[in-house]
Amino acid sequence: MSHDQASATIVAAPLPAPLRGSIRVPGDKSISHRAVLFAAMAEGTSRLSGVLDSQDVRSSIRAVRALGAEASLEKQPDGSLAGTVTGWGGRGPSQPDGPIDCGNSGTTARLLMGVLAPWDVRVELTGDESLVRRPMRRITAPLMKMGARFLPEGRETLPITVCGSRRLRAIAYDAPMASAQLKTAVLLAGAFAEGVTVLNEPAPSRNHTELMLPEFGVDTTAADRTASVTGPARLKACEVRVPGDPSSAAFIVCAAAVRPGSSVRVEDVSLNPARIGFVRTLERMGADVSVRRTGAAGKEPYGVIEVRHTPDLHGCEVPAEKIASIVDEVPVLALVAAHARGVTVFREVGELRVKETDRLAAVVEGLARLGVDAWGEGNDLVIEGQPGLRTPSGAVFDSKGDHRLAMTWALAGLCGTAPVEVRDFDAVKVSYPGFLFDIERLAR
Ligand code: S3P
Repeated sequence: MSHDQASATIVAAPLPAPLRGSIRVPGDKSISHRAVLFAAMAEGTSRLSGVLDSQDVRSSIRAVRALGAEASLEKQPDGSLAGTVTGWGGRGPSQPDGPIDCGNSGTTARLLMGVLAPWDVRVELTGDESLVRRPMRRITAPLMKMGARFLPEGRETLPITVCGSRRLRAIAYDAPMASAQLKTAVLLAGAFAEGVTVLNEPAPSRNHTELMLPEFGVDTTAADRTASVTGPARLKACEVRVPGDPSSAAFIVCAAAVRPGSSVRVEDVSLNPARIGFVRTLERMGADVSVRRTGAAGKEPYGVIEVRHTPDLHGCEVPAEKIASIVDEVPVLALVAAHARGVTVFREVGELRVKETDRLAAVVEGLARLGVDAWGEGNDLVIEGQPGLRTPSGAVFDSKGDHRLAMTWALAGLCGTAPVEVRDFDAVKVSYPGFLFDIERLAR
C-alpha cells in the first residue's frame, strides 16, 4: 500500500497473506456520540471510556463544549478517548458564540436538533459540503410539531438555526422511515416535554438511545418498532463504557470472508442485534461466521465475532425490514456479493441515497469498475456475483468523501488480485482512522 499525503490517494495492493489473528476495533460511533451528548445534557460528571477518537465524534465533543459542557477526554494507549464530561444539567446549554460546525457528522447535527429544541437558545448548525446536502426535514418536522422553530422557515438542509422552546409538547409520532437519528432527536426533545412522547417506526432501527437513556435516569420504554420517554426528565451523570464498533468490524469480517485462507476473531465488539445484521447476511450467503457474547457494557451486549474464509459464497435476498440493521454495511456487503455465486438483492435501500453521498449510485458505479453487473431496480439493489472475480488492472475509485466507500473500495484491491487506486481515502478518519494499519497487521 502506498499513501500520497497531498492528494490522500492510496494504492491498495493485494494483501501479502491471508488475514489471521485477533483484533479489537475502535469504539462504536453511534454509542460514542450518544455518550458525549447525553453526558453533556446531564447534571454532574459522567465518566466515559472506549470512546471512538474520530472526526465525527470530535464534532460532537466540540459541539457540547461550545454549548457549555466541560469535556476532558484524553487519548488512551489503545487509541480510544476516556475521561469525564460535566454536563449543563438543569441550567441548559449556553448560547454559543457562533454557528456550530458538525463537519461530516449527520448524527451530531440531527441529534443536536433534539438536544437544543427544549431550551431557550438560538443555535445555527452547519456542516461540510456533504452534510449541507443531506435532508433535515425528517428531524425538523416532528420537532416543529412539538413547538420548536427552525430558521429560515421551510429550509430542508443545513445551515439551519434551531430556535428552542421551554414549553415543548409531548407527541406520538409515526416516523416515515426507520432512522435512529430521527427517533433519537424526538426522544431527546420529548424527555423535556410534559407527558409521554412516543415514536413509532416502520422497521426496527438501532436502539442505543433507548438502552442508554435509562442509565441517565430517563423513564424510557422500548419495544418492537416503538419507543417512548416520559418528561420532564432530569438526566443524571453516569458511567458509559463504549464497546467496539460492529460497523468497523464489518470491513475486517467481510475482508476475511472473501480472502482465501483467512481466519479472524474480532473481540470486545458490540453484538447489539440491531447492528449485526451483516453477520446474519453473511451467514445467509454461506459464510463461516459466528458470534459469542462475553459481557455487557451497560445494556449493550458485546463479545466476539469469528470468521473463516469459505470458497463457496452464494447470493441471497435481504428483505426490506432488515435493511436498517445493515444500513451502513450495504456497500461492503455488496462487495462480498460481487464475489458470490448468483444474484443478491437488497430490498428497499432508498435511504442509501441520502447518506454521506449517494451510496446506491456509488456502489453500482464502483462494482461496474470491477466488471460486476449491479443495478438499481426502484429502491432495490441487485448484484450479479462472479465467483473467482479478478480485479481489473488500473482500477481507480473515488471515495466521494464517504468513509464507508473509501474502505469498501480499498478492500477491492486489498482482497483482490490487482492493486486499485482509491482517491480521497482520508475520509476513513470519520469512523476508522486506523483501518489500513489494522488490516495490514492481520495480513502479515
Ligand atoms: C446512526 C443512524 C443511521 C446510520 C448512521 C448512524 C445513529 O442513520 O446510518 O451512520 O447513530 O443513529 P439514519 O438514522 O439516517 O438511518
